[in-house]
Amino acid sequence: MNTPCFSYDMAILNETLHQLNDASSKRNYKVHYAVKANYNPQILDAIMLNGLGADCVSGREIAWALEAGFNSDKVVFAGVGKSDEEIAYAISNDIAMIHCEGLQEAITVNEIAKSQGKIVNIALRLNPNVNANTHAKITTGLSENKFGFSVIELNKLILMKDQLTNLNIQGLHFHIGSQIRDLNIFKSLCEKVNDYIRFFELNFNTLSYLNLGGGLGVNYDNPDAELIPDFEAYFATFEANLLEKNIEVHFELGRSVVAQCGKLYTKVLYVKESETKKFAVIDAGMTELLRPALYDAYHHIDFNGIAFKSDVQKYDVVGPICESSDCLGKDVQLPELRRGDILVIRSCGAYGESMSLNYNGRIKQAAVYC
Ligand code: LLP
Repeated sequence: MNTPCFSYDMAILNETLHQLNDASSKRNYKVHYAVKANYNPQILDAIMLNGLGADCVSGREIAWALEAGFNSDKVVFAGVGKSDEEIAYAISNDIAMIHCEGLQEAITVNEIAKSQGKIVNIALRLNPNVNANTHAKITTGLSENKFGFSVIELNKLILMKDQLTNLNIQGLHFHIGSQIRDLNIFKSLCEKVNDYIRFFELNFNTLSYLNLGGGLGVNYDNPDAELIPDFEAYFATFEANLLEKNIEVHFELGRSVVAQCGKLYTKVLYVKESETKKFAVIDAGMTELLRPALYDAYHHIDFNGIAFKSDVQKYDVVGPICESSDCLGKDVQLPELRRGDILVIRSCGAYGESMSLNYNGRIKQAAVYC
């Protein structure tokens, strides 16, 4: 295998999808996969075949989802900065729903829909001001975050909604953040959502669509202990805390679907030491896995194969990129390393390859699927 190389275990992915479908379908919940987490065609194909919809945040993501075979009536379009061209593309492909994030966007969608002679289904993304208690850079549902309608914008929309004749305002959308491991946070979301549903029905129509976003976290610390997230407990939290039972409820999960099926294989280029540290310089860096540099994220790192000496040492596992933040693991306990040893970085299926960069002239290797 050429390194650095992402490897995907399709059996883990399929079992994850199986357990996800079991837990969601018995509640009649609909799940869209957040394409941004990993848009490799083989991954999209498996997810499409397992019956999920696609949650897209750009015109290209919509195109990838359609190319992968997702039916347009299972594709939704979210995102805080949709361009006119992307909106026109989404509408011309008759996707199921556009999640609008502000008043000007709703007006723009209405105009483009009118120009195409169509009525478009939209849901309003609201910012519920719920603290997801996750990393600040992946929190999205606080009023200081750029996402969704604020109450100010929502009130303006209510005043002019009758002029937006090419919009069918069907419901509400929320997404409060990512890598949420404490299910009580979703309980707090439900409490807000219950109030917003009443507000929506007073000011718009009967609510027929409710999308509660994604965000379910995975176990990065010990991936083998929890290869498949507890979807049953996740959906049960919503079932127990949503008061309105007769609404079509949708979710858009990314990380929890694909994180644990992906690994990043990397080779040790050099071992060296400073006065205070031992370094393992590897051939993967922040260009392949940005999460540690961007969010101080922890990824478990394993030694692959039989160690030359089993004495455990502590290494900072660093990449080749000319940035000090290019460190994929600090003080990682590994057997004594030699040039050419292979390390495996775990839980890389989500927001790994999809966030990879060309910085420093880096070239992306083809992934392997097993
Ligand atoms: N829906 C919306 C509107 C989103 O913005 C996101 C993720 C999702 C669904 C899927 O969330 P998930 O189930 O994957 O938590 N790059 C970061 C994560 C950014 C998430 C962005 N939005 C990371 O590597 O941790």
